[in-house]
Amino acid sequence: MPRPEKHVFICTQNRPQGHPRGSCASSGSMDILNEFMNEIQNRNLFEKITLTNTGCMGPCMAGSSVLVYPEGILYGKVKKADVKTIVEQHLIGGEPVTNLIVPKELW
Ligand code: FES
Repeated sequence: MPRPEKHVFICTQNRPQGHPRGSCASSGSMDILNEFMNEIQNRNLFEKITLTNTGCMGPCMAGSSVLVYPEGILYGKVKKADVKTIVEQHLIGGEPVTNLIVPKELW
């Protein structure tokens, strides 16, 4: 397998209802993971972009969290409708989606 150009980590951490930190799963992160899979499959980008679902990455209050390497850019409050923009603008186009980046004070 060739080394991917981008590696995308999607937090799918779950926690019990009422937990003070909440969770990305309760913010719909499984739908986001599935949407990334659809976008990557439809564009046949499997060899260039790797997707990994992961546990908590820290800023739960800004979930759903999506981390993109090699840049180390963390997106927060990602919604299903944002996935296409992240794929087209950042993963393919190389330009981070600035309005979705988690504030520095959070991460
Ligand atoms: S639960 Fe997703 S960042 Fe903490």
